[in-house]
Formats: sequence, C-alpha cells, structure tokens
Amino acid sequence: MTIKEALNYSGVSTLEAEVLLCYLLKKDRAWLYSHQDDILARDRARRYHKLIARRQKGEPIAYITGHKEFFGLDFYVDQNVLIPRPETELLVEKTIQVLKSYKLQAKKLNILDLGTGSGNIIISIRVNSKQITVNRNNYYATDISKEALKVAKKNAKKHKVFSKIQFIHSDLFDNLYEIKFDLIIANLPYLDKKWIDKELKSEPKNAFDGGKNGLEIIEKFLQKTNCYLAKNGIILIEIDPRQRNKIKKLAKKYFPNKKLTIKKDLSKFDRIVVLS
Ligand SMILES: C[S@@+](CC[C@H](N)C(=O)[O-])C[C@H]1O[C@@H](n2cnc3c(N)ncnc32)[C@H](O)[C@@H]1O
Repeated sequence: MTIKEALNYSGVSTLEAEVLLCYLLKKDRAWLYSHQDDILARDRARRYHKLIARRQKGEPIAYITGHKEFFGLDFYVDQNVLIPRPETELLVEKTIQVLKSYKLQAKKLNILDLGTGSGNIIISIRVNSKQITVNRNNYYATDISKEALKVAKKNAKKHKVFSKIQFIHSDLFDNLYEIKFDLIIANLPYLDKKWIDKELKSEPKNAFDGGKNGLEIIEKFLQKTNCYLAKNGIILIEIDPRQRNKIKKLAKKYFPNKKLTIKKDLSKFDRIVVLS
C-alpha cells in the first residue's frame, strides 16, 4: 500500500487517515503529501490496519494516538480522562483575563481547578500566565478520579509546571482543608442523560454525566462553594447552553450578592457563568 492509498482508505475520513498516519510514521502532514508514492512497509501497513479498525469501532482518535491539542499545548490523554474540548478554551481565556485584572494582581491568590481531568485547564493557565506575577500564586487541581489525577500529573511534568500545582484527590471540596480560594474554575460533568450520545460512551461516565437533569453535581458544588471562597472570590463554571436559565436560578439562590455574567463561545452559545 502506498501513502496515497493509505490516505484514501475507505471507512475513515481523510482527516482521520492523516492523523493516524502522522502518528504511525512520526511525520507531519506536509511530509505525507510530499511522499504519496512511498510504499508502507508490511509491518507498518499491518499496524495502520489495526489503528483504522479501532477508529471504525468508534474509539476516539485522541485515545488512539494519546494526544489532544488544547490552548496550543499538546496533552496526553487516555480512557481515564475526558478529551479536552475546544469550547473549554474559553474558560482558560477568561481566567487569564481575570488574573490580569489589576485588583487581583495586587495579592497572592489561591486558584482552584475543580474536576481537572487531564489537567488541561490549570496547566494552560499556568503555562500561559507566567508573565503575570504568577509566582506568588498557589495553584490547586482536584479530581474525584485517582486515575485522572495521574494523567494530569503526567501532563504537568510534560509542560514543566508539576512543582507549581498541587494535585489533590477529592470529591468536590471534601479533602481541601482550611483553604479559601480567590478563583475557582470548574468544568464539572453537566450532561443530562438524554443528551449522551454513542460517541461519548468511550469517555469516563463520571466525566460527563451530571446526574439528575445534568445539574446534580453543579448544584452540590454551588451549595458547598461559599465555605471555600475567599472574600471577593470569583467562580467560573462551564455550562451546557441548554441549562442557562436553570443555572442562573441556582447561582442566584446560592450567591444572591454576586454579579452573574454569561460568556458566549465562538459558536455564540452561552458557555461560561462567571460569579464575581
Ligand atoms: C467534564 S470533565 C472536565 C475535565 C477537564 N477539566 C476538561 O475541562 O476537559 C469533569 C471532571 O470532573 C471530575 N469529577 C466528577 N465528579 C467530581 C466530584 N464530585 N469531585 C471532583 N471531581 C469530579 C471527573 O472525574 C472529570 O475529570
């Protein structure tokens, strides 16, 4: 089989074939297209068939290659973590904006990423805000899944911020003692069962299933957050656009004195709730 034939393999899209071939051959796209007539050696062709078969069974490309790009960084991912989604980059962008704001820079901050998964949010924030007095700040990341935390730690080492972030195994705030956070960022599971499709089923259930109405975990989080939030602390939560009004109600119930702002993602969907 030539590279050209491999690229046109039926049953997967050309884009998927490209990603799998780049991964298999450790080359970039430009190389593939300038070597289209090269022959794939037999053992490589065999390995390529296996990768294609995994994709055809519905395994996400990111789990097959072990990589996902997020906020311009390469993250290791496996079946223990949710694959970072592009819309979550907004949460990172907004948090960096908050960090840059004059008021917060004046003091040392405690920053928490609750439900860190692969660590994509907190690591992207730490890596991309090195210039903003970050050395004074304390960074924390928690997850209910020990396996997810292992992945997050691996990514923190990869991006050279392991010593800057404390990783804590915890169900919501249970194992966080006597810390008040100035900034809490949470991308918790928020999907209603009826929205869960086949493609999602290869990802860990506790990463996307939000329980009753999809809001059970977020409501528990909002109920408990007050005790862990510093004075003038800010909360940023990723939501599903369909939950906008329900979340607004919950946020007003638990934080009647905070200002609520909703930010839209690039597709103009309500995506982030900021309580400040
Ligand atoms: C939607 S995923 C987000 C992962 C990652 N932060 C991201 O943005 O891609 C939700 C994460 O929250 C974790 N989680 C679920 N319930 C939790 C709980 N009660 N306490 C802490 N973490 C929880 C899951 O294990 C999962 O890693």
